[in-house]
Amino acid sequence: MSKIKVVVAGVGNCCSALVQSIHYHAENPRGLMNYDLGGFKPSDIQVVGGIDIDSRKVGRDLSEAIFAEPNVAPKFCNPPPAGVVVVKGPMLDGADGVLKDVIKVDDSPPVDVPSYLEQLDAEILLCLLPTGAQKAVEFYADSALKAGYAFVNCTPAKIASDNRWVESFEDRGLPLAGDDLMSQMGGTVFHMGVLDFLAKRGVDVTKTYQLDIGGTVEAYGVLEDFRREEKRKIKSEAIKQVLPTDSKVATGTSDYVGFMRDCRTGYFYVEGKNCLGSDVIIDIYLRTHDSANGAGILLDVIRGVKIAIDRGIGGQLTSVSSYGFKNPPIRSPLNESMEWFMSFVKGERKR
Ligand SMILES: NC(=O)c1ccc[n+]([C@@H]2O[C@H](COP(=O)([O-])OP(=O)(O)OC[C@H]3O[C@@H](n4cnc5c(N)ncnc54)[C@H](O)[C@@H]3O)[C@@H](O)[C@H]2O)c1
Repeated sequence: MSKIKVVVAGVGNCCSALVQSIHYHAENPRGLMNYDLGGFKPSDIQVVGGIDIDSRKVGRDLSEAIFAEPNVAPKFCNPPPAGVVVVKGPMLDGADGVLKDVIKVDDSPPVDVPSYLEQLDAEILLCLLPTGAQKAVEFYADSALKAGYAFVNCTPAKIASDNRWVESFEDRGLPLAGDDLMSQMGGTVFHMGVLDFLAKRGVDVTKTYQLDIGGTVEAYGVLEDFRREEKRKIKSEAIKQVLPTDSKVATGTSDYVGFMRDCRTGYFYVEGKNCLGSDVIIDIYLRTHDSANGAGILLDVIRGVKIAIDRGIGGQLTSVSSYGFKNPPIRSPLNESMEWFMSFVKGERKR
């Protein structure tokens, strides 16, 4: 099997966990949804390029940059030096608003991103920019088109769910997946799973909320109104698809607590009625590591995109997107999206 060469834009916490997971799971399948996927193992993924704007990351080997501040992803393992030096990308709106407080913007000139990508000769550009950086995400999507890369948008910016971008990637025969990564065991997927289970047991859910507290840069940035609204809307829409239309739903990051670092606690409340109109109440919390949660799904998404590349499939990857993202172009219930993804991997579904 050939290697899957990936370039990452945004060497933050999620990138840190991705790089570590490729090393950690080289021989260790435990804790993953899929170890062998279409003949590819996690160790077949190679991050061959990294782009950021923070002076603590730019110019450093990727294996060091992933542990540089303000990243808080823990050292789960020690990936060997990658021989990949992080380069400076254009800032655009990547450090707007409160992110100015935490990102130290490097003062060197940015590289020409399409030429950098062409020279690396990789296949997939993974966009891990902060929430709210619409212009910067669009810039990287456009650079992927210019350099002939598949594009994976892990941010909430509208790319895979925007027909104009879908058509551009289709025209170029390049795969496109997104938007807004859905963590392996994060709040949204957990909430959807609980609600799906309740629906199957006949419980009529009337009210539910999911409120998160975290200590990452992402949790800090999402406190700002325009980012909070973007996230809240996507999370609520993902949850609403498994609820009766008149149910009341609230979701969103409710606060940033620095000492929690990479940990995120999601508080879930569900109120419903079962037989005889009697009350069913769930009031629980889930605590996970944000970064590892992102990497857990990215290992599958990247391999799914590589399968599309090898089959010559360009444009919207509906199975990969509905399996791995909170705001895919076509939404489907959890079980169905997992079935779609596995059928796609086996070659029974085109996209
Ligand atoms: N579990 C998860 O990690 C998870 C789940 C769902 C969605 N996401 C999404 O993934 C994205 C990344 O998450 P994260 O926690 O790694 O974020 P992060 O804030 O830790 O990292 C973002 C990185 O992007 C860099 N950056 C900012 N502007 C840039 C630019 N113009 N060019 C290049 N780099 C730039 C920052 O310096 C930083 O290193 C976010 O949009 C988030 O919503 C992550």
